[in-house]
Amino acid sequence: MVARVIPVETFDLVIFGGTGDLARRKILPSLFRRMRAGQMPKDARVIGTARGKMTKKAYQTLIREALEEFIKPENRTDEDVDAFVGQLDYVMLDAKGDDGWEDLGKKLREGETRAFYLSVGPSLFGVIAQQLSKRGLATPKSRIVVEKPLGHDLGSAQELNAQLSTCFTESQIYRIDHYLGKETVQNLMALRFANALFEPLWSAQHVDHVQITVAETIGVEGRGGYYDKSGAMRDMIQNHLMQLLCLTAMEPPARFEPNAVRDEKLKVIRALDPVPPSDTVRGQYRASIDDGSYLEHVDNQDSRTESFVAIKTQISNWRWAGTPFYLRTGKKLRARMSEIAIIFKDVPHSIFPEVEEKRGNALIIRLQPDEGITLRMTIKEPGPGGMRLKEVPLDMTFADALGPQVEVADAYERLIMDVIRGNQTLFMRGDEVEAAWEWTDAILAAWANSSGRPQPYDPGGSGPEDALALLHRDGRRWREIEA
Ligand code: BG6
Repeated sequence: MVARVIPVETFDLVIFGGTGDLARRKILPSLFRRMRAGQMPKDARVIGTARGKMTKKAYQTLIREALEEFIKPENRTDEDVDAFVGQLDYVMLDAKGDDGWEDLGKKLREGETRAFYLSVGPSLFGVIAQQLSKRGLATPKSRIVVEKPLGHDLGSAQELNAQLSTCFTESQIYRIDHYLGKETVQNLMALRFANALFEPLWSAQHVDHVQITVAETIGVEGRGGYYDKSGAMRDMIQNHLMQLLCLTAMEPPARFEPNAVRDEKLKVIRALDPVPPSDTVRGQYRASIDDGSYLEHVDNQDSRTESFVAIKTQISNWRWAGTPFYLRTGKKLRARMSEIAIIFKDVPHSIFPEVEEKRGNALIIRLQPDEGITLRMTIKEPGPGGMRLKEVPLDMTFADALGPQVEVADAYERLIMDVIRGNQTLFMRGDEVEAAWEWTDAILAAWANSSGRPQPYDPGGSGPEDALALLHRDGRRWREIEA
């Protein structure tokens, strides 16, 4: 099956932090893939900027090397790489000072779409936005792209939104949460709103509870400096898991349009109950040998930063009152597994009373790896000897159903093209980010005010004991973390 490609109009894309890790690893390789797919206009220009002095040629060489590192040889040809780097330019620029801005201005075309991608630390977001505005580079056809951390708490998120909005209108601001660019996350919306089957069951009346898990096998290696100030709550729950929760729980938007979708997501966040500390569990991985422990990677040996979080949360609205949503994420767990599990209520009356353990139907949306959907059903075990029941998965792995030749696009491919197209549906609005912080802050504050510490857990396991207890006490259990 060949993916459909909708061409985009020509554009000038400026990447601040153009020599950095994100640019080399994600942004430029994603654009390259879009070029290979025939989506990047030949006259589109990509301008990398950074503080270092570098010729255009040297920048092109740097990015050529990045493509060689991050794009598999079978997915690139020398010709394509030549053509792509031919569209790249470089400007040495001091984000805070005067150097380079005039040069940048001269390279931008009047009247064309401009996208300014701020692949820099968050302390520069406001500064660069103001510079762009002050120097007249922010035209009506301009967009500005920022990515997490979008603040550290509600106050800093509000400050950031205020800084951005003095220079750009909300419709020009693209806040990335790369989970929204994942094919399977978008598929969640297709599943819910393009199929009549699920919607009548999608409420507290039929759903016992929901489990959202993003488990990782990697630790914080190399990112200790950032991570120790952040922790799983800020790094994953406030953004990625919150977005998954919203897409799972929101009302059907009237249209698949930016504000229609974002209004519905915001309503979910605003309907979240405050979470009592007893409904939260935090953990930190700790190996019996030092190597492999969280503390190996951070300076503060007394760190109370959590590398694992489990939360029971309730949505106070007509659809969901009484159905808990359990969220769980952590590093150094047994397997890389992200999924949303909708666990349905059991049958109201069983005509098979001899069956001991019954679990209701479940719809499992596997986000990664092995993207697909499983419906857990109960059937009769074949053979004579009475009515024995058995749970079986009705399984659809997308790669099997759609054909292996469909390459799953990287989240950034979709998101960058949406920026160029001017489609904000898969980006977060400022009020959404603030509402998510408000909810998150209350949990963080309760932790900070308690003398408690994250519970140690073994690398390669499924998190701390208390996380299991969080569900056990409700007579439920987590799904296994397994590859
Ligand atoms: C990032 C977090 O936003 O998402 C990382 O900062 C995390 O800590 C990553 O590892 C997970 O993303 P993915 O796409 O690998 O699931």
